[in-house]
Amino acid sequence: MVRILDGKELASQIKDELANEVRAITSSGRRAPHLAAVLVGNDGASMTYVANKEKSSHEVGFTSSVYRLAESTTEAQLIETIHFLNADPEVDGFIVQLPLPGHINEKHIINAISPEKDVDGFTPINTGRMVLGEPCFLPATPMGIRTLLQRNGIATAGQHCVVVGRSNIVGTPAANLLSRKGVDCTVTLCHSRTQHLAELTRQADILVVAIGQPEFVKADMVKEGAVVVDVGIHRIPDASRKNGYRLVGDVCHAEVDPKCSWVTPVPGGVGPLTIVSLLQNTLQAYKQRQ
Ligand code: GUN
Repeated sequence: MVRILDGKELASQIKDELANEVRAITSSGRRAPHLAAVLVGNDGASMTYVANKEKSSHEVGFTSSVYRLAESTTEAQLIETIHFLNADPEVDGFIVQLPLPGHINEKHIINAISPEKDVDGFTPINTGRMVLGEPCFLPATPMGIRTLLQRNGIATAGQHCVVVGRSNIVGTPAANLLSRKGVDCTVTLCHSRTQHLAELTRQADILVVAIGQPEFVKADMVKEGAVVVDVGIHRIPDASRKNGYRLVGDVCHAEVDPKCSWVTPVPGGVGPLTIVSLLQNTLQAYKQRQ
């Protein structure tokens, strides 16, 4: 029988734990942790993510602010905003929502973020620290995947984890994090140029899919009894729905779920844990600044 890795329920539990900790801080007269977000332009998905981050921040008692900048914002203007947030003593951590408009160089932007406030764990300093196993801010989605596995008691040591997708924000850091001491998976990282992909994914005890293609993973790519973590989320037009669309992941759940021991649903799997990881990092940033 397949069991559901319920990210919504686990996120709610961890948010309660965070809220208790924040209450203890504020009741002793100290200010609450403060998470800021920078949103450039009007991308629909990005606006939803930032609104969710704001809502979750308030749920745990954080101060939250959002800097909404026009699509036409220049790289120099955005860097000026980042310098302002780097210097603001009231802000513990902030994120710049990606993707950015095409005329802005993402690398220049990420490099401008102070590593001490980089709660997304995207700067080269935090990436380097992670790879070296040093204390750092872990990137939110890989950290959320680790939390989902660990808090559901899923054994990882020595397990073969196959990661599909090598993006800077999910696949590459997830492969690194899951192979680190304490998690101890044996990791294979697959990507668009991988040969015999299905042969590899069929060897996975734990399959992490972050390829960005709707329902890419089919039943014949999954081993019986595997743990499947679906990082994708896509809006597919669906005339039978009131809102005109449905959400699907990178995994074809109708086919794959019956083969799994554990599977993350979409939505309500990895997504809620990504946000919770960001909150955990912000609390850590706050404590480090005190
Ligand atoms: N875009 C998609 N995922 C993320 C994320 O985790 N952080 C930021 N800043 N942008 C994203």
